[in-house]
Amino acid sequence: METAIEARSVRKHYRGTERPALDGFDLRVAAGSVCALLGRNGAGKTTAVRILTTLLTMDDGAATVAGHDVRADGDGVRRAIGLVGQNAAVDEILGGRANLVLFGRLRGLSKAAARARAAELITRFGLDEAADRAVGTYSGGMRRRLDLAASLVVPPSVLFVDEPTTGLDPDARRDVWGTVRRLVDDGVTVLLTTQYLEEAEELADHVAMLRDGRVVLEGSPAELTSLVGDTRVEAVLPSTDDAAAAARTAEAHAVGPVVVDGVSVAVPVADAVAVTRLCGAWSAAGVEPRDVAVRRPTLDDVFVHVNRTAEEVAR
Ligand SMILES: Nc1ncnc2c1ncn2[C@@H]1O[C@H](COP(=O)(O)OP(=O)(O)OP(=O)(O)O)[C@@H](O)[C@H]1O
Ligand SMILES: [Mg+2]
Repeated sequence: METAIEARSVRKHYRGTERPALDGFDLRVAAGSVCALLGRNGAGKTTAVRILTTLLTMDDGAATVAGHDVRADGDGVRRAIGLVGQNAAVDEILGGRANLVLFGRLRGLSKAAARARAAELITRFGLDEAADRAVGTYSGGMRRRLDLAASLVVPPSVLFVDEPTTGLDPDARRDVWGTVRRLVDDGVTVLLTTQYLEEAEELADHVAMLRDGRVVLEGSPAELTSLVGDTRVEAVLPSTDDAAAAARTAEAHAVGPVVVDGVSVAVPVADAVAVTRLCGAWSAAGVEPRDVAVRRPTLDDVFVHVNRTAEEVAR
């Protein structure tokens, strides 16, 4: 398997700060895959992206991107990559189309080629109607799509996207997810950072959880989810008798033990189909919950697991 990104024991300590931002950061991303770097505020995600994209130098360690050494061959790295930063790099006053033409010119395309590429990307990213309107008037989702388009003016072999959907509403978020998936279909390797477990699960083949500047847990989304447990349907019933009845009906749809706590019932389920089947079964059995919620494991659940494991190891 070809490796698109590799980082070994990368360390970065910003001057005047107490702790290193990256402290033994290791990562390997296979070509053509999507890797999500998952972590809370300050975990070191942006620092890792900035180092791998040559915007920042590491204190120690080694890294290669698209076969180029990050320290020794920064030009080679820069030619092979695209970057969508946490803060948009597009001009507010220019329109979307003009921004894309400008990016093309900066990357060395002729005027005609830059125009043609801009037109193609505007259409592909669904920005036709807003193409000639100042970017300052765009919605968050439109801006993010333009950011992605700008990074693709010259198709990169590796694309870095720092927090693609932070601050976007659910519709705009899905929209950006679709865009990232299409890139992968084109064979681009993607490293994205996110604070959302759900986003990592949606998009990534491989998830690396970053905490205090190092990867503390990694694996496929399914592996991470299996560590933290399944999606749960949580229902509140009118009485404890109803809760017991709800639990009995739920047995057939559960992938693990059904937990009853007073008038509450928690049912671990495999997927969305199981959720609708369970609700159907309750309805047929005359079970009428006062409240039903589907609870998916979150980044916090994974961190709780990581902490627990760390304590066990320490003991
Ligand atoms: N230019 C800088 N100078 C000093 N310290 C910095 C600088 N940039 C980041 N840091 C510190 O390094 C650590 C890692 O920051 P980084 O921006 O990489 O985190 P992050 O995971 O991207 O966080 P966020 O989710 O908030 O974007 C933090 O403690 C941060 O305060
Ligand atoms: Mg960041």
